Amino acid sequence: MIFRQLFEDSSSTYTYLIGCPETGKAVLVDPALETFDRDLQQLQDLGLELAYTLDTHIHADHLTSALKLKSITDSKIAMPSKAGVGCADIQVSEDSPLNFGTISLNPLFTPGHTDHHLSYLIDQGANQAVMTGDCLLIDGCGRTDFQGGSSSELYRSIQTKLFTLPGDTLVYPGHDYHGRSVSSIAQERTRNPRLKNGTGEDDFIGIMNGLNLAYPKKMDLAVPANMLCGQCPDDVPEGMDRLCEIGVQG
Ligand SMILES: [Fe+2]
Repeated sequence: MIFRQLFEDSSSTYTYLIGCPETGKAVLVDPALETFDRDLQQLQDLGLELAYTLDTHIHADHLTSALKLKSITDSKIAMPSKAGVGCADIQVSEDSPLNFGTISLNPLFTPGHTDHHLSYLIDQGANQAVMTGDCLLIDGCGRTDFQGGSSSELYRSIQTKLFTLPGDTLVYPGHDYHGRSVSSIAQERTRNPRLKNGTGEDDFIGIMNGLNLAYPKKMDLAVPANMLCGQCPDDVPEGMDRLCEIGVQG
């Protein structure tokens, strides 16, 4: 398996490129519009054909490049079914692995950051890894204060869907704001300050309620645009035209 973790620094977003060496097919998980050119170049350098783009959820902090990649590479757009994205070619849910070449990405329904969020497990025998999007982060977790978020649901998603995976499963998050790239389920179970051993649901909810996070700067554009697979809507909020120009000029 070919696996690359790629970083977009304006929103601290990780994109994952997963390729099948036998068939030359690839998937990009959470590709961002800002790094569209880089991702195309990566595919070209590796001699891979993009079969799918796959988002973990409707992002509030950046625009997906799903539609733009499709227009250039003819890739199919896969989105979590519960997000209700009409432009998606494939509606992904927990019971429907996404297969390309010899690789399967197994969706785990992990709501809480948003009400439709999926994490994706790659099980290659000895090499098990999970891309956790904005559900579980290294030493943290996604916020729960918009897009149908729920601290209670996030707690249960992490405890029942992620912390029950084998301890040596590698954890690849959707973001990191401190230069970290990878963790493991065992590490997060024992060290994550919000969730480590003995942290109950009520304690977790108290931690999340006390975060007082700022309103995401791009949210008023990013959410409606991502519901259109990354296309800017007709009524772009004031002052956000530049973000759409990135999409046009790419
Ligand atoms: Fe998010």
